[in-house]
Amino acid sequence: MATSPTSRIAALVTEMQKQTSCITAYHEDNNVPGPSFDSETPNPSYPPNICAACAAALNAAQELTELLQGPQQLLLSQLAGQQYIYHRLIDQFDIARKVPLNGDVSYAELAAAISLDESALRRVLRYAISNRFFAEKRPGYVSHSTASRALAEDPAMRDLAGFLLDEICAGERRAVDALVKWPGTQEPTETGYALALGTDFWTVMANKPERARRFAGTMSQMTKGDDLSTRHVVDGYAWSSLGNSAKVVDIGGSTGSIGFALAEKYPRLEIVVQDLPQTIAGAVQRDGCNVRFMVHDMFEPQPVQGADVYFYRWIFHDWPDKYCLRMLRALIAALKPGARVVIMDAVMPSPGTVSNMMERTARYVRYSIGSEMDEEALTRCDLGCSTWLWDPASTLRSGSSTSGRRCSLRRTPALNSRVSGVRRDRDCRF
Ligand SMILES: C[S@@+](CC[C@H](N)C(=O)[O-])C[C@H]1O[C@@H](n2cnc3c(N)ncnc32)[C@H](O)[C@@H]1O
Repeated sequence: MATSPTSRIAALVTEMQKQTSCITAYHEDNNVPGPSFDSETPNPSYPPNICAACAAALNAAQELTELLQGPQQLLLSQLAGQQYIYHRLIDQFDIARKVPLNGDVSYAELAAAISLDESALRRVLRYAISNRFFAEKRPGYVSHSTASRALAEDPAMRDLAGFLLDEICAGERRAVDALVKWPGTQEPTETGYALALGTDFWTVMANKPERARRFAGTMSQMTKGDDLSTRHVVDGYAWSSLGNSAKVVDIGGSTGSIGFALAEKYPRLEIVVQDLPQTIAGAVQRDGCNVRFMVHDMFEPQPVQGADVYFYRWIFHDWPDKYCLRMLRALIAALKPGARVVIMDAVMPSPGTVSNMMERTARYVRYSIGSEMDEEALTRCDLGCSTWLWDPASTLRSGSSTSGRRCSLRRTPALNSRVSGVRRDRDCRF
C-alpha cells in the first residue's frame, strides 16, 4: 500500500529531526557555530559522519519542499528560477570582489564601478539576495552573505561559477538538439556543448588557456566538497599495502589535488600526475613532496612503464565506452605483472536505489560536459570481464564503504579480450 501523504510528511520531518540533532550535537560538543547565511560566521567544515547527516537531512528537506510545492510550483521552481541571470551578472562584472568584505557599498557606487544602469543592477542583485547571494542589511547598500563572500575570497569558487556558466549551461541548452541530430553517438564532437561552442569541450580547453586554467581550478574546488573529497581516495584504497616506493600514476590527475593528498599520507609513494599540456602548465610543484607532473595524452601509449598502480579518478564518466577502451589499451604495453588499474568514478545507480539527491547528481553528470554517454555505458561499464556497477553499499578491500558518495572505488579484475593484449591473469588482489 502506498504511504499516505500525511505519514510521508511526518516521516520526512522525523528524519530531518534525527539528522539535524546529530549536526547540532556536533556543534555543541565541539563548540563551533552552526552554518549561517551571515558572512561574518565561517561555515563549519564537517567530519565524514556529519557530512552524511547533512546529506540525509538535505535529502529529506528537499523531498518535503517538493512534496508541499505541488506540480505547478515544482515546475516554476525548476524553470522560472532565472538564477542564471544574476550569476551571469555577478560573474561577468566580478561583483563579488567589488563589494567590500567588511561593510557595504551603495547600489549607486557599485553601478558606477561597473558602468551599469543602477536600477537594473538593483533589480537583479535583489533577486540574488533573495537567493542568498549578497545581503542588504541597510536599504540601498550591498554587503556579503556567506556564499557571496566565498566567491569574493576564493578564486576557485569563481572558477567554478564561470565554468558552470560558460561550459555547463552552454552545453545543456543545446543538449536536446544534439540528441536529435546525432542519435546514439559516441563522439564528443557530437554534443550539446559542441553545437553551442562549435567544437568539443577538450578542443576548447586545448585552445583557450584561460578556460583550461579555470577548468583545473574547478576540479580543485570540487575536491573541497565531501562528494569528491580526496579523502575517498586516500582512505578508500589500501595504498599502504603497495609497499615502500611503490609507483602510482594518476592519469588525468589535473593539477595534483589527489596526488598531493596521497603524498601527504603516504610520503613513500612515488606519484606521477599526468594530464594535458594546458593543465600541467598550471600545476605547481611542492617542495619535499614525492609528486611530479608529466604531460601525457591518455589516449597515447603510457610512457611510465612498470608502475604499481595506474589510477583514473573521475575520468571515465566523461567518455563513451569506445574512448574508455582506447584509454585502457594505451596502458597495455606499460603494465608489469601485478600492476593494478584502479578506477574511481560515478557509476549510474538503478532508478530509486540511492537517495534522490544522489540519483539526481549521478544522472546530471551525463550531460555535464556533453559526452551524452548512453545510460547503458554508465550502468554497465563492462570492461570485458567484470560488471562494474554503482553500489553505494559496496565494500572495499578493507570493508570500508563509500556509501552515500558520488564516486566509488572499484577494482578492475583482469582486463581481458575487449582490451586486446591484456593478459587475463593480471593480479587484481587488493
Ligand atoms: C573531470 S577531471 C578529473 C580530474 C582529477 N582526476 C580529479 O579527480 O579531480 C578530468 C581530467 O582529465 C584530463 N584529461 C582530459 N583529456 C585528457 C587526455 N586526453 N589526456 C590526459 N588527461 C586528459 C582533464 O584535463 C582533467 O584534468
